[in-house]
Amino acid sequence: SNPSLLILPGDGIGPEVMAEVRRIIDWFGDKRGLAFDVSEDLVGGAAYDAHGAPLSDETMARAQDADAVLLGAVGGPKYDTLDFSVKPERGLLRLRKEMDLFANLRPAQCFDALADFSSLKKDVVAGLDIMIVRELTSGVYFGEPRGIIEEGNERVGINTQRYTESEIERVARSAFELAMKRGKKLCSMEKANVMESGVLWREVVTRVGQDYPEVELSHMYADAGAMQLTRWPKQFDVIVTDNLFGDLLSDLAAMLTGSLGMLPSASLGAPMANGRPKALYEPVHGSAPDIAGQGKANPIACILSFAMALRYSFDQGGEAARLEKAVETVLAQGHRTADLLGEEGRAPISTSQMGDAVLEALDAS
Ligand code: NAI
Ligand code: MG
Repeated sequence: SNPSLLILPGDGIGPEVMAEVRRIIDWFGDKRGLAFDVSEDLVGGAAYDAHGAPLSDETMARAQDADAVLLGAVGGPKYDTLDFSVKPERGLLRLRKEMDLFANLRPAQCFDALADFSSLKKDVVAGLDIMIVRELTSGVYFGEPRGIIEEGNERVGINTQRYTESEIERVARSAFELAMKRGKKLCSMEKANVMESGVLWREVVTRVGQDYPEVELSHMYADAGAMQLTRWPKQFDVIVTDNLFGDLLSDLAAMLTGSLGMLPSASLGAPMANGRPKALYEPVHGSAPDIAGQGKANPIACILSFAMALRYSFDQGGEAARLEKAVETVLAQGHRTADLLGEEGRAPISTSQMGDAVLEALDAS
């Protein structure tokens, strides 16, 4: 049977950008013989409106069974006053938690046509292609004890940075596997100088590295890493780091290359019976209520998220590269949605016109 893909468009611009991805998925079916069993379901506010919950048990079960899940975005002002337990974000959190997606992959890639758009000098970012692997299910965001307690005559806010060896080991292994498929360079970032979890992190990553003698492993303190990422990001290939540092460093790295409308991501878990990891692919951006329903959204982040699915869930690295190349081509041709124009006085193209352009570039590939 065909590999299965569950599509969860979500809210706001989610369904708008996903409509373009659907056309691209169909193109790969028609022109490249890549047939997927595609099904679509509700998540976030859309699911709340239909079922009173941001992710139904049925949808959760379908996500667990799918070879890959592709999500648009969730949330919006309409749902801001809802109780925390049914907020749209909770749908996404449930997916991540129950699928146990511990490795968050955030590429920072600079398309030459957009190099001027970066806040850094062009030669610093031109040709940049790095990948940050962030541990997503543990660390200080989840560690116990946590809370606000009374101590003497004041209150204390407490969080605990906590990592088990196995948590470090599994994300390190994902990062090494990724490095093997890329430039065979991995930099691990922590603060072993001041944190016990960092000492253990460094030790475990080094040990896992013995299984990957071809990968050149280095270690860097995360604060120095932030400096190096802005000074000369091209020194890196794959970076692996914990949940908190990864949150900051991946946002920092993302902005080296420009618009939120361009950034894909993948969240991977343990291998399934077929050997491929459980996987959720989604653009980094949210539901963008300020532009929703106006045909202004840039679909490229979601399109590139599907390219990641082709590469990491469906073993179609060549077809993923074909799609990425098509995106590069349309940008080089000057096609720009509003978010990619900045101060330029040019008229932007619409979401579906960007989809048209990518399909044309695919036809020509
Ligand atoms: P956002 O990412 O939705 O928007 C930030 C800014 O970037 C807005 O000005 C928006 O118009 C622009 N933008 C985002 N994606 C774009 C695209 N594809 N093309 C062109 N412009 C784009 O973040 P914001 O405004 O903080 O959050 C809006 C809603 O989205 C909230 O309800 C928030 O909770 C939710 N959210 C959901 C996420 C998810 O589903 N993974 C992630 C981040 C926010
Ligand atoms: Mg963040």
